[in-house]
Amino acid sequence: MAETKKLMRALAGETQAVPPVWMMRQAGRYLPEYRATRAQAGDFLSLCYNPELAAEVTLQPIRRYGFDAAILFADILLVPQALGADLWFVTGEGPRLSTITSPSDFNALKPIEAIHETLSPIYETLRILTGALPAETALIGFAGAPWTVATYMIAGRGTPDQGPAHRLMAEDPATFDALMARITAATVEYLSAQIVAGAEVVKLFDSWAGSLKGDAFTRYALEPAREIIAALKARHPETPVIAFPREAGENYIGFARATGADCVALDNSVSAEWAAEHVQVDGCVQGNLAPNHMVTGGQALIDETRRIVKAFSNGPHIFNLGHGIPPDANPDNVQVMIDAIRG
Ligand code: CP3
Repeated sequence: MAETKKLMRALAGETQAVPPVWMMRQAGRYLPEYRATRAQAGDFLSLCYNPELAAEVTLQPIRRYGFDAAILFADILLVPQALGADLWFVTGEGPRLSTITSPSDFNALKPIEAIHETLSPIYETLRILTGALPAETALIGFAGAPWTVATYMIAGRGTPDQGPAHRLMAEDPATFDALMARITAATVEYLSAQIVAGAEVVKLFDSWAGSLKGDAFTRYALEPAREIIAALKARHPETPVIAFPREAGENYIGFARATGADCVALDNSVSAEWAAEHVQVDGCVQGNLAPNHMVTGGQALIDETRRIVKAFSNGPHIFNLGHGIPPDANPDNVQVMIDAIRG
């Protein structure tokens, strides 16, 4: 049967007059129904590990807006937890984890085969979603890329410049490389299990790729993405992969070719016109409206949305934000954006 889902068609390289659209963090705190379900679950992590409620919040933005894709509700930090790290969230501050700063911290981690024990509820969420989504809606699974996950595992929290991870890379490269290899292998198993459970597309989030420069970008952003994508393609050749090396700048050029990604997601630090010329030449791109327009709205939101659609109109494009929608976004602005795209 010919593919009818707009998202899958874009990922197969088709140029569409109206691009498919979804948003990073589309299930999130800006939606009152999300806040209600999270309260019902108790807290964020309990929501992630409750398949019925995680499926429910995944579906909420689909019901409200009719996005072309649903993204699994989970978090990139569940993989460190499945590898044995302690993980908790401090309200208003963000994630906290036990830290990895020495060979003995690394040696205390669990083997790769152990991850499914913790992560099996996530696969159940996907199985529920495969039976609950509208026929035209694609289902996206995801994981953090090894560098971004490593930055949290090493520092035990989000850090503005990823200093602790850069320090371990310089001072104890053997431990750093061993950690990267463990996360890489775990990510292949996790994403592969997501595909078996029903994910039709998978996305690799490398939120902190921008702090890797020169050879370090090649070695720790590009190379792990290439390895993960090659391993996934060997097992699931039909499943497209979206890579998001956020704030890669010039390193966006050629990233899809070098890694085998079917689509490169763009943050909003690069212009759509520049990316159409330098990145979309290799295939599908996703992005890249500045998330703050979801807070401020108005004519600027409409103008920017139309400008991005137009800039990418000569090739395959998935409309998205350059990063996640902010918690203080106005839900009405999401509809304004969608109307500007779909006309
Ligand atoms: O996009 C989606 O809607 C799918 C679900 C999803 C979440 N996190 C839910 C979430 C996805 C794809 C992620 C990815 C994620 N998680 C990334 C990569 C993308 C990015 O934003 O750069 C990162 C770095 C994380 C780690 C993480 N999770 C942080 C730093 C935080 C705290 C910051 C914040 O926004 O509160 C989280 C929490 C988190 N993950 C929330 C959601 C909806 C908010 C939790 C809440 O409800 O309080």
